[in-house]
Amino acid sequence: MRKYSFIFAAVLALAACRQVQPQAFSVIPMPAEVSVSEGAYSVAGKAFFLDPRLDNASQDAIWRFKDALEAATGRTCPLGKGDIQFLMNPELAPEQYTVQVSKDGVVVEASALNGFVYACETLKQMLPAAIYGGKKAKAHWVLPYVSIQDQPRFAYRGMHLDVSRHFWSVDEVKRYLDVMTVYKLNRLHWHLTDDQGWRAEIKAYPKLMEVSAWRNGTVIKKDWGSNDGIRYGGFYTQEEMKEVVAYAAARGITVIPEVDLPGHMVAALAAYPELGCTGGPYEVWTRWGVAKDILCAGNDQVFTFLEDVFTELMDIFPSEYIHIGGDECFGGDAEPNRPDPWDVCPKCAARMKALGIKKGPQAKHYLQNYVTGRVQAFLNAHGRKIIGWDEILQGDLAKGATVMSWRGVQGGIEAASRGFDAVMTPNGYCYFDFYQTQERDKEPFGIGGDLSLEKVYSYEPFEGLAPEAEGHILGVQANLWTEYITTPEHLEYMLLPRMCALSEVQWCAADKKDYVRFNASLDHTFEMLDAMGVNYSLDCRGLVGLDRQPARSAEEMEEYLSHKDWGW
Ligand code: ACM
Ligand code: ZN
Repeated sequence: MRKYSFIFAAVLALAACRQVQPQAFSVIPMPAEVSVSEGAYSVAGKAFFLDPRLDNASQDAIWRFKDALEAATGRTCPLGKGDIQFLMNPELAPEQYTVQVSKDGVVVEASALNGFVYACETLKQMLPAAIYGGKKAKAHWVLPYVSIQDQPRFAYRGMHLDVSRHFWSVDEVKRYLDVMTVYKLNRLHWHLTDDQGWRAEIKAYPKLMEVSAWRNGTVIKKDWGSNDGIRYGGFYTQEEMKEVVAYAAARGITVIPEVDLPGHMVAALAAYPELGCTGGPYEVWTRWGVAKDILCAGNDQVFTFLEDVFTELMDIFPSEYIHIGGDECFGGDAEPNRPDPWDVCPKCAARMKALGIKKGPQAKHYLQNYVTGRVQAFLNAHGRKIIGWDEILQGDLAKGATVMSWRGVQGGIEAASRGFDAVMTPNGYCYFDFYQTQERDKEPFGIGGDLSLEKVYSYEPFEGLAPEAEGHILGVQANLWTEYITTPEHLEYMLLPRMCALSEVQWCAADKKDYVRFNASLDHTFEMLDAMGVNYSLDCRGLVGLDRQPARSAEEMEEYLSHKDWGW
């Protein structure tokens, strides 16, 4: 098989003599094995054949592809003996697929929903971008003759969305999922709760919707004493969350809900102050940063609350993992002179004593282990696993937890070396709220930090790991925190095209990545996003991707990675 390094010459030749669209192999993420031959197959109005063994979800995914093709070509594709065949091949892994295009037509093979979804997405990317537009378009509706064998490098290919700092409607979340589908991501990490707003309807605790879902204003930029005075908020009903879960599942995406605990809980404390160490009163936070007040680890009511909340969420979210947060519980920045509540709370002190936790700087971490472990035991008893931010590793984390490495790569490396599974989401490579060009005056106001497209692309998740620990790295995720992101256009701008680069980190074998090839593929991806009406950053790309980002000195690189300029 010829590899894709030969493809471009082939495609250029093909484009010249056959008028095939030159974007034919600008597929992102690049499939594992691609072999092109001369010729192209016209797809408009061709009959579809679906193997009767396909399950309903796979059939629905193929119908969506057929609908898009019919809308764009203006020609009906009948069901029949099949020029475009979708066949069940039980020997393939669930996310694997093959595509053959020849003079005889198109043959797709997969064994499960995700494989069929990804085959359809690859076919769509090989067609003119107008297929993403949902309406009839004049274009050369052909697929090049090609043989593709494809499967992902990592099983966990995630994208996070913060809906607390700013709230995103169900339609906006679906659109986010649509874009994730194009680039073959399979996990949405839904950050549903934080200090600035609780977004999930919990029927047992109505004040979460009446009080915790609303804040009395929002800080203006980084002027911490300021407040725009505009009441802001919202929440998803349980029916809406189920709708999102179903929409995602139809596209092979699992939604993992996060309830961030025991820190980042001020919104919940505002409604139920008895769950905090001091008893309040508390207000839903109107500024960004890290709050001092967290759930009281010495109060059993807190665990009743958490178990009730997770019981309702488990009915909505069938995910194997439930995210329990765990980040930034101590040292809140808003009241620097105030001690951490766990250091001075009599109930927390009594709990530490009962647990035999020795006084000292590590005591709080062991107490956090107790909280994490108690929630973990509850969720495990209900057949779920926990995943949490890398702070949960501090002290003595119980077996079976999965760690999300965000403060750089070290948490993931340590987790894997201690035998825990990990998802890598290091802020130096995966925080999409950071600026994407160095011309900040031309960028929308942001939280700080720099993360260029090229830097995202350069990430190698196994770097620094012992070979025997590599199996603990489940995959990679990028995070999109929304403190300074208020509109869907801005959200999409921060997401794209960095998510395209992320998708190659998640999908492609390390030796198949090639930034110049990837960057050239963006021409076609931008046309696709234009057709979808999705916003993106053009400037982050650079002219060929390499000449726009100035080389950094070692000091600049250190500064860049430490994100000293986050702003709080
Ligand atoms: C985080 O960014 N605080 C997980
Ligand atoms: Zn306490």
